[in-house]
Amino acid sequence: MPVSPSSVGPTQVPRLPAEFVWGASTAAYQIEGAADEDGKGASIWDTFVRRPGAVRDGHTGDVACDHYHRFDEDVALMRRLGLDAYRFSISWPRILPTGAGKVEPRGLDFYDRLVDALLAAGIEPTPTLFHWDLPQALEDEGGWMERDTAYRFAEYAAVVAERLGDRVKRWITLNEPFVHMSFGYGFGVHAPGRALLLDALPVAHHQLLAHGLATSALRAVVPDAQVLVANNCTPVRLRSDARSDGDTAAASAYDVLHNRLFNDPVMLGGYPDLSAYGMADASWGGLVRDGDLRTIGQPLDGLGVNYYNPTWVTAPADPAAGLPFDLAEPEEPYERTAFGWPVVPDGLTELLTGLKARYGDALPPVWITENGCSQPAGLRDQARIDYLAGHIAAVAEAGARGVDVRGYFTWSLLDNFEWAEGYHQRFGLVEVDFATGRRTPRASFEWYRALIASQRP
Ligand code: FCB
Repeated sequence: MPVSPSSVGPTQVPRLPAEFVWGASTAAYQIEGAADEDGKGASIWDTFVRRPGAVRDGHTGDVACDHYHRFDEDVALMRRLGLDAYRFSISWPRILPTGAGKVEPRGLDFYDRLVDALLAAGIEPTPTLFHWDLPQALEDEGGWMERDTAYRFAEYAAVVAERLGDRVKRWITLNEPFVHMSFGYGFGVHAPGRALLLDALPVAHHQLLAHGLATSALRAVVPDAQVLVANNCTPVRLRSDARSDGDTAAASAYDVLHNRLFNDPVMLGGYPDLSAYGMADASWGGLVRDGDLRTIGQPLDGLGVNYYNPTWVTAPADPAAGLPFDLAEPEEPYERTAFGWPVVPDGLTELLTGLKARYGDALPPVWITENGCSQPAGLRDQARIDYLAGHIAAVAEAGARGVDVRGYFTWSLLDNFEWAEGYHQRFGLVEVDFATGRRTPRASFEWYRALIASQRP
């Protein structure tokens, strides 16, 4: 039975500009399944999910939403929603099974079909080239700890652009290089599961270099390409009982490592000072070579911002433990998502106006490339509707305060494989029954559909 739109009227949300782009996001490993079909190589996630204890209940993305076989049905759902654009990611090991060299045409064929289906539905394809599923063969050579991976990424970008660039104009190079570095290489809770703490910093530079080289490669093949990077950004907050100099220093250290490390080089062409973390000079001991920062800092067409919640920190209880901060809990009794994340819509306004204050004219147009929440299973997801309404209003507020925001992609279209949490977190506007693949739109789907319709000029 269809679920009717909830009582939180979509028309209560302030109007965004007429040309504002409404979208939804997904990522390849989280939805596609078909893990070794049509010549696809293994990615680090195919390997990591088999490590005992790595993913809750041993879930894997082997089948996931089976989007690889059901993409037509998913595009039909998007058309029903009235999406202007769809952000998905391309699986690098589907295109280059060993990360370099031999191209697998069947992998390219899949995205070709997807792009055509989207365009036929009037939806702009907005691919991300890297959403964490590095070819395992490249990880075997050192992965993002190695500079070579950046060159391989640019080659891969060119291969994809040559095939899709006649129809795809808006491109996102990387998804959340901060989260990939910290979760994947710093703490080992995501693939590739390496726990190097601050020794993982080379992963930041090599991903950013990859972004810059791929930007050049995309522009060489697709002269009218618009290129973005999707950074996870968080406003950093202190509790009222944590205001010592040590706490303030911890907040600024966290801001450097989470936000500025990935935003400064792409917008200002330089890294924040990392001398406290073993990077004594601007070249990070030779890692950052001549010309790298020019490549990374070439003007972008847009900054993708993924926002979920602010981060609270305090001074580290044990400074010898290796990190210059401790993560803390807010004292305010914020509502929580099913994941336990605090719901703080005004954090998004704070984040966007903060980016404008920090980067000024160097800030390109902003796109919210992810925002959404995990909620308990079920179709009547009023809490998700409230979450969306609050955060979209927060985007409108940032716009009213002078931030040029061009679009909003909610995370996510479908329930999907939520990394180390497996299928335990449900982020979808559409519920997925993972035993059968059956898709059922939730109340939030109807609400978002009505919102998009009501925002049309
Ligand atoms: C982001 C990821 C995305 C999804 C959401 C919940 O960090 O980019 O794939 O897992 O979190």
